[in-house]
Amino acid sequence: MISTHHISLVGFMGSGKSTVGKALARILQRPLFDTDSLIETRKEKSVAEIFTAEGEAKFREYERQLLLELVNAPQPSVIVCGGGTPCFAGVMDILNAHTATFYLYTPVDILYARLKNEAAQRPLLQGKEDLQKFIETLLAQRELFYKQAKFIINTAGKTAKEIAEEAATASA
Ligand code: S3P
Repeated sequence: MISTHHISLVGFMGSGKSTVGKALARILQRPLFDTDSLIETRKEKSVAEIFTAEGEAKFREYERQLLLELVNAPQPSVIVCGGGTPCFAGVMDILNAHTATFYLYTPVDILYARLKNEAAQRPLLQGKEDLQKFIETLLAQRELFYKQAKFIINTAGKTAKEIAEEAATASA
């Protein structure tokens, strides 16, 4: 049976998914699952360490396996996806089949301002000469997936709490 009782948040790195997810889980009184944190706990390695030691393809496999487990859990939850999670191996279709999907749209200049000092923790951003251009290009590719979300929220100028309240209302 297809069920959409879970809520999932997708969007680019720096779009505020984790913070909004926490606020949304609090509002809806649901458990929160953050794919990056869960993978780090289970593998006992940071995402950056997994990329270095096992490669990106392995990380994408971990994300997909975890997602399949989370969407099949009986209790309604809030699922925060990593920025690339929905863009590989049919994951966006899985999310749309089993969850109410929200794309947290955030303009490139805001993403750049938030990400420019964070390359160390984010393996995809390391060593990029023109970071703003890189974000622009990758975002354009990824929006093919993100924009398949059932709901799109423009996060510009809003607090995490406001975005979470908007998502809670839309999903009711
Ligand atoms: C990634 C985003 C990160 C993390 C990994 C890869 C991506 O998650 O999963 O570094 O491909 O965009 P956040 O979006 O939570 O930063």
